[in-house]
Amino acid sequence: MGMSTRKSIFITGAAAGIGRAVVERFAQAGWFVGLYDVDEAGVQALRQQLGAERCHAGRLDVSQPDDWERQLEGFFNAAGGRLDVLVNNAGISVTAPFAEADLARHTRLIDINLKGVVHGCHLAFDYLRRTPDSRVVNLCSASALYGQPMLASYSATKAAVRSLTEALDIEWQRHGIRVVDVLPLFVNTAMVANDVHKMKTVQTLGVRLSPEDIAHSIWRLAQGPGRRLPVHTPVGLQAKLFYLLAKMSPDWANRLVTARMAGH
Ligand SMILES: NC(=O)c1ccc[n+]([C@@H]2O[C@H](COP(=O)([O-])OP(=O)(O)OC[C@H]3O[C@@H](n4cnc5c(N)ncnc54)[C@H](O)[C@@H]3O)[C@@H](O)[C@H]2O)c1
Repeated sequence: MGMSTRKSIFITGAAAGIGRAVVERFAQAGWFVGLYDVDEAGVQALRQQLGAERCHAGRLDVSQPDDWERQLEGFFNAAGGRLDVLVNNAGISVTAPFAEADLARHTRLIDINLKGVVHGCHLAFDYLRRTPDSRVVNLCSASALYGQPMLASYSATKAAVRSLTEALDIEWQRHGIRVVDVLPLFVNTAMVANDVHKMKTVQTLGVRLSPEDIAHSIWRLAQGPGRRLPVHTPVGLQAKLFYLLAKMSPDWANRLVTARMAGH
């Protein structure tokens, strides 16, 4: 059987926030969309709304390799034998002075934000390799540029995702797979509303991005030939500025700016 002509995209953390906006953007454009989340009711409701012929939905906890194996296989078959784009979007935050949050919360965050991405890339590799010009888009963050107080373990996982992205993008070039990331600053989602707003840095910089802005960046990264894509895409003017500054400035200056913005 030949490969389907309809492109397909697999999104984790698809029930809310940025993941949901990505689902809507690609579904509108006629892609076959995979909606996966620990919030199964959330992705099933979204599937109903989009129509069953345009998508596949299921429960996936990114920290569980078995969930990945089952859902990737089901999706690949439902999509007609192709996986064009994998979006590793699921993520959580712990916003607190590092020593004050329970250790279990930090390790759970690492299981989701870092191990989740390692699981996804490792277990999707064979499917990506079988799809010409495929790509992985990882949700990184501007906090990967310099470690953020109040978000220590979170920024550590995002710096690790950034590094994983760089390494795999080189390793997998020979397989026709690009691995890229997006680095947004604060986005107007539940993550910021429930948790991250406790940071002084949010008051300093404001929340200037919508989930649709990030979905638009990911849409652009899914277009055109993979070889033209940048490995890192800072999203929004502020993130672009910090991206440049972090590269040009010595560490003492990055440390000073980060500390001042956080009210230290
Ligand atoms: N909101 C921001 O300011 C911001 C900025 C930069 C990067 N990001 C990154 O963007 C991604 C999405 O963030 P968001 O703001 O849309 O968050 P959100 O909290 O609005 O949505 C996250 C979704 O992920 C799901 N999820 C949580 N744990 C999961 C797990 N173990 N397995 C599968 N799904 C799980 C949740 O159920 C939810 O539907 C995250 O990786 C986050 O770190 C967010």
